[in-house]
Amino acid sequence: MRTDAELIVDPDTYTAEVPYSALARLRNRNVVRIDGFWAVLRYADVKTVLRNPAFFSSHRGATQIRDPQPDDLAYVQRMMLNQDPPEHTRLRKMLAQAFTPRAVGLLEEQIRIFARTTIDRLGGDFAETVADLPLLTLAEVFGVPHQDRKLLYDWSNRVIGFQDDEYAFSRSDTAGMTDMARKALELRPDDGRDPRARNGMPDLYAYAHALGELKRNDPGDDVMSNLMRQDITIEEFENLFWLFSVAGNETLRNGIPGGMIALMRHPDQYERLRQDRSLMDTAVEEMLRWWTPVMHFRRTATEDVELSGTKIAKGDKVVVWFSSANRDEQVFTNPDEFDITRKEADHLSFGYGPHFCLGAHLARTQMRALFNAVCDLPHQLRPAGEPTRLRSNFQNGVKHLPVTWPQ
Ligand code: HEM
Repeated sequence: MRTDAELIVDPDTYTAEVPYSALARLRNRNVVRIDGFWAVLRYADVKTVLRNPAFFSSHRGATQIRDPQPDDLAYVQRMMLNQDPPEHTRLRKMLAQAFTPRAVGLLEEQIRIFARTTIDRLGGDFAETVADLPLLTLAEVFGVPHQDRKLLYDWSNRVIGFQDDEYAFSRSDTAGMTDMARKALELRPDDGRDPRARNGMPDLYAYAHALGELKRNDPGDDVMSNLMRQDITIEEFENLFWLFSVAGNETLRNGIPGGMIALMRHPDQYERLRQDRSLMDTAVEEMLRWWTPVMHFRRTATEDVELSGTKIAKGDKVVVWFSSANRDEQVFTNPDEFDITRKEADHLSFGYGPHFCLGAHLARTQMRALFNAVCDLPHQLRPAGEPTRLRSNFQNGVKHLPVTWPQ
């Protein structure tokens, strides 16, 4: 008989479902010791950890449960995600302007067009079709030539799906890509090395450099061009490109099918949303709560601390579990229920505190646009089979979502 602690870390568990019952039982015990780390499962505790980087560092051991190799740690520590204030604040400020509601507002019409054309191309696999929306948006925001956008898809598959046979060697068709892309791809390894290591994705770094060079010589009105004008080291630049390729893509291409699953399993609420679009904002927030796309992030204790009565020693790994906090019965009434009118509290799917998701407005705008396009269809979509889930305890991933509709 497997223990709850074993269940929630085993990537195989997630090919069937997120173990919400196991998370609920563990949550009753507040902060729980699991296989070399502390699992923080309650909403209030997750917030406490995330708003106190002085005690719970993103930098010490980076932000994944799995420790990087010592050489790689020094490298990934140059990434904004893996920094603490004040270093973190410097990079965050450089980028923040491009992601404000105002900046994203200027992109809204373009995103609406992307969403509509994506849904116009809807085939039998919803997950596969909608995976293009975050790619199109990222390409637009970063000034990546649109014909190269599948590169971002492969890179994030490799990082997030390194424990999944289908994703670990993701390789899209390169027809139509730029010379810059084809040249970078000559360096792509196929030996299963760790994609988070500095030598893990030489093709990504080669592409980042070539694109950076292009933007330096011919700047546009995009994030990459803007970065090239800033005082930024090459390691910081490479790490940012890596971060955006993964964070801006994988999260949404799972969050969107997750939201679709929620609607299809609740046809009455799906119909209500089709009839009343003023519910779209709360519906999207509820989708993000109910199908939490990123399930956890890690911190490291910088000194001996106490959290909800549990003593945590300096140097211990502390993992905040968003998929548990978002179902905390002390905060959400009937937390397992999906309710598009729910307004009780903010979900924690975008994190909290200084690392609160930089792309949250962009993500929300894409989800609203996409689900508006879905609701504009003359019919409801229906499941045409079971979804295929990603083998990962980190991303709540949907690889395939068969759908059908009245012909
Ligand atoms: C539904 C979609 C998304 C979800 C669920 C999500 C989730 C998260 C979470 C939980 C964090 C906090 C990490 C931590 O505390 O250690 C984060 C950070 C981040 N996200 Fe997102 N994200 C999404 C979409 C995006 C998009 C579209 C972009 C960019 C285009 C993006 C860029 C980032 C960046 C750059 C950070 C690091 C911020 C920092 O370190 O200050 N994310 N995201």
